[in-house]
Amino acid sequence: MQPGLAGVRRAGPDRSTETEERLLSKVALARISAVGTGVPPKLLTNKDLEKLVDTTDEWILERTGIRQRHVVEKGVASSDLAAEAARKILAQTGLKPTDIELIIVATITPDMQLPATACLVQHKIGATGAWGFDLSIACSGFLYALQVAVQFVVNGTHKNVLVIGVDVMTSIIDYTDRQTCIIFGDGAGAALVQPSASVEEGCFIDFLHEVDGSGGDFLCLPGGGSKNPTSHETVDKKLHYVHQDGKVVFKFAAVKMAEICVRLLERHGLTGKDIDVFIPHQANLRIINAAVERLQVPADRVIINIDTYGNTTAATLPLAMQTALDQGRLKKGDLVLLASMGAGFSAGACLMRWGF
Ligand code: UT7
Repeated sequence: MQPGLAGVRRAGPDRSTETEERLLSKVALARISAVGTGVPPKLLTNKDLEKLVDTTDEWILERTGIRQRHVVEKGVASSDLAAEAARKILAQTGLKPTDIELIIVATITPDMQLPATACLVQHKIGATGAWGFDLSIACSGFLYALQVAVQFVVNGTHKNVLVIGVDVMTSIIDYTDRQTCIIFGDGAGAALVQPSASVEEGCFIDFLHEVDGSGGDFLCLPGGGSKNPTSHETVDKKLHYVHQDGKVVFKFAAVKMAEICVRLLERHGLTGKDIDVFIPHQANLRIINAAVERLQVPADRVIINIDTYGNTTAATLPLAMQTALDQGRLKKGDLVLLASMGAGFSAGACLMRWGF
């Protein structure tokens, strides 16, 4: 039996064996070749939140693992943070803005309902000739957008695709709701997806995603859409803010994030112990710990930065990639597992060989 893209011999044939053989036979591989972030400098600490709602630093730290979040100044929008992340990628890679062909922005906090934030980012970075669109699936947005980008690269039509996860959560949070406001922060992260010449150069191996709309009511922003168009009444009822049943979301997340990872790994005959770097969505440290325990990934291979950033929704995964790089814990060729979960409900996982 040949080793697959994961570089690990598998016990027997499965669906992904076919996928891998198809990919290998076409040598149509895609990889992440650069990462950049856009993080506002202003901090909102647990102590600051003590002044806004009935909470304590100790409670927040113990129940979520969060110490502080970065938050925007008034007037700073998602496209500003996203453009900053994109510019860092251009600076690192030497690409010209006009080399970018496609920009996918995963966000639930677009600057405006229309135009798409991708258009605003395209204009801000000067990516003349690029096309783009927004993708809205909350915390799973970056991972789902990555898979979309990969399709364009492996089918040979695009060579430089920017995938950006950005959210200015402070724009949709009720700072009188102590259960919700303590969790979220603002930030952006971007990844450049390019063709890869070989497995050694890094490549995406497989994705697995799932949505379950029966969980829709438990984490939602009910106002301002076609169901409850904005009115004085929707504003009075605070329907323009995120509403969540934290306990229900927690239960879903604590089980689902691990489960989807296990299913993806099993498709490749792998376990958590085979993973070099695990980058989970940063929603709550206890959710991450539940996934780590189930997956049995050694603790020193798990990337955690929720203490610094809180939950930045679509930005958590690229921000955590940057943390891993900054800490020297992510190297070319590493077998990386990404995991997401969030509103929808939605969940996702991605297996890749790191590409730079
Ligand atoms: O990306 C997805 C985004 N959302 C999530 O991931 C949310 C997932 N859920 C969670 O992270 C947790 O459920 C929360 C952090 C939201 C809440 O933590 P919890 O441990 O599930 O708390 P709880 O809802 O079980 O509440 C326990 C107690 C309650 O008081 P009583 O009824 O026992 O007297 C709450 O009122 O803690 C109280 N409480 C707080 N106390 C101090 C809730 N929020 C706070 C707070 N400070 N901020």
